[in-house]
Amino acid sequence: MEFSIKSVGPDKAGCDCVVVGVFDSRQLSAPAQEVDKAAGGHLAGILRRGDMEGKGGSTLLVHGVPGIAASRVLLVGLGKQAEFGEKAYRDAVAASVRALRDSASKSILITLSELPVAGQDAAWRARQAVLAVSDALYRSDQLKSKIENARALSAIAFSATAKEARAAGAGLAQGMAIAQGMDLARELGNLPANICTPTYLAQQAQKLAKQHKLKCEVLDRARMEKLGMGSLLAVGRGSHQPPRFIVLQYRGGKAKAKPVVLVGKGITFDTGGISLKPGAEMDEMKYDMSGAASVLGALRAAALMQLPLNVVGIVPAVENMPGGGATRPGDIVTSMSGQTIEILNTDAEGRLILCDALTYAGRFDPACVVDVATLTGACVIALGGVASGLMANDDALAAELLAAGQTSGDRAWQLPLWDDYQELLKSNFADIPNISGGRAAGTITGACFLSRFTKQYRWAHLDIAGTAWRSGKEKGSTGRPVPLLTHFLMKQAGRL
Ligand code: BES
Ligand code: MN
Ligand code: ZN
Repeated sequence: MEFSIKSVGPDKAGCDCVVVGVFDSRQLSAPAQEVDKAAGGHLAGILRRGDMEGKGGSTLLVHGVPGIAASRVLLVGLGKQAEFGEKAYRDAVAASVRALRDSASKSILITLSELPVAGQDAAWRARQAVLAVSDALYRSDQLKSKIENARALSAIAFSATAKEARAAGAGLAQGMAIAQGMDLARELGNLPANICTPTYLAQQAQKLAKQHKLKCEVLDRARMEKLGMGSLLAVGRGSHQPPRFIVLQYRGGKAKAKPVVLVGKGITFDTGGISLKPGAEMDEMKYDMSGAASVLGALRAAALMQLPLNVVGIVPAVENMPGGGATRPGDIVTSMSGQTIEILNTDAEGRLILCDALTYAGRFDPACVVDVATLTGACVIALGGVASGLMANDDALAAELLAAGQTSGDRAWQLPLWDDYQELLKSNFADIPNISGGRAAGTITGACFLSRFTKQYRWAHLDIAGTAWRSGKEKGSTGRPVPLLTHFLMKQAGRL
């Protein structure tokens, strides 16, 4: 898709379709009024006759509007003007391209980008417009032998006043970088586990490194053994797929500037291991590497934006299978930190690979560490698919991540990490068990486990079990939390 910003009157834009917004109770938005004026009241006539109310998400395609350069006009309902905010804005942009995606229009001009959204500027509107479009148009056809209805839509322009064109252009470029990061995360997430193995993830990381001049290191089992990553290695033992430990470095900042370290859970398939999962929807456990995918996606976005910042991405990539060599419930292993872990449930494997990755992260003397993981089913119960769970040992870091989620529309919600919860993690035989025994506060006890390995730096944990993919008819990876992570990095780099 080709994106651009245009500062021509919407009536003069020579394209296949110009998209204008209509507020509820038939109120033409300002750009719609401009078109209407040039068209001698043609649009107002349509509204008067009752073909379009302006309800949020509704659309009406009109051909042959007199006096304007475009061959079509798409009216898009914006809902009540008084309630028009961030969500309504994104929804309207998404509805526009959904209405046109399988139409004959190749190039379109969307004027919604000129509509004021309280608290946000032209850069935000352009950035969010690109993200909404790329989300609405995404289709996973990488493994289909033929592509159903090849799309005509190939060029999307957003209008901006001459005064705001510069800011909009900057927002557009950022949006495109984030969208490319999300696309990478989604493609990897949607790939099945017979293709997207730990080895495949490592190859993709190396490819990304080549494209963007990142430093990439991949550690194999022998190297991990040397480092003492006994916890991580315990998870991969039941699988024929060898584990991989991926370290990617983007160096856009000063040589001495401490890096932000992102750690992503890369379980390429989670059967549960010997603590085998029930069969229903087990296919979705191919998404258990979504944290890893989002870390690669955020690095891609950061590199595309050339953020003046150092970022390290760490991905422990392992398959959790119940093979003959598999770890048994009750097995005790020694983590890289030296702490011993009693593995009471082999299905709580994410924390077992992350703890060694978090210990390894300490080597970079990080400014902060953020881990991203599809860690607990309990998080899906608590927050559903709307917000990721956030827990941290540092309130300022938590606040920055929450803010990044808010402005990007990729929200997180904080859960407490109080000492009271730590008491739930007690083992009779080792330093720490990998589960608490009960189901209470499952998302928090998962984070409590991780917190035992993050004492020496500022750390936050994002549980994306509910947000990384959608189930059911619309099944597929969402590309989240690439927008949140990228906005966080942009802010750290002073670009927001
Ligand atoms: N990958 C799962 C978490 C998960 C489950 C994500 C369902 C999305 C949907 C994780 O490895 C897991 O199995 N967690 C267990 C932890 C439990 C054994 C303490 C869970 O949530 O049931
Ligand atoms: Mn599991
Ligand atoms: Zn898992």
